[in-house]
Amino acid sequence: ENDILNKLPLKGKTVIITAGPTYEAIDPVRFIGNHSSGKMGFEIAKAAANKGSKVILITGPTYQTVKHSLIDVVPVVSAENMYEAVHKYFNNSDVAILSAAVADFTPKEVALNKIKKSSDTLTIELTKTKDILASLGKIKKHQYLVGFALETNNELENAKGKLKRKNLNLIVLNSLNDKGAGFKGNTNKVTFIDKDENITAFELKSKTEVANDLLNRIITQINA
Ligand code: CTP
Ligand code: CA
Repeated sequence: ENDILNKLPLKGKTVIITAGPTYEAIDPVRFIGNHSSGKMGFEIAKAAANKGSKVILITGPTYQTVKHSLIDVVPVVSAENMYEAVHKYFNNSDVAILSAAVADFTPKEVALNKIKKSSDTLTIELTKTKDILASLGKIKKHQYLVGFALETNNELENAKGKLKRKNLNLIVLNSLNDKGAGFKGNTNKVTFIDKDENITAFELKSKTEVANDLLNRIITQINA
């Protein structure tokens, strides 16, 4: 039995994964969010744990659940919460895969009381959130850093730009153009681009299979 465990390719490694949306509070009862289901991140967590790694799964609000002895779930709400949680674990990790759909903007001020519908229009001022992935690209040492890119146009160019700007080892381009791909379904159509500009395009697959393709690629790279 120990022999089987010792042969798991990620045994002894720690993988950080972000998943799901973030919720940015407007007032005590309202938020700005997005349609991310969290499925892709949870599938990546399961795939990594099944390959023997310890997993820190930092997730925004989602209906997904997982029970695995190697997976610690760290629930967060906002982009700021997620930033703090990721930085708490990053130094002691070997791989970080940021698949969360983090809000790019957050209300500049959270109203203390519920906003009343007293006027005909409402303007809420937003400020940019911290880019968690880019912040890891700046401080990473031995860590293998993976980002996602959700694009609808100029896909390859935009994804390559993010890979470079954020100092990533690999980016997973997620095409929203394709039927069956994206936030809510059980399938995704992805392309991997690594920092040497190797491009690997996959057909439409289940998120479980996409997760395994991704972990297999990471294992090949970190053992190279
Ligand atoms: N990301 C992050 N923190 C943010 C915004 C994005 O960590 N505040 C991460 C996402 O988890 C993803 C990657 O950055 O891994 C790319 O996210 P995406 O929304 O595609 O790109 P952005 O850099 O936010 O640019 P834009 O939305 O303008 O295309
Ligand atoms: Ca974004």
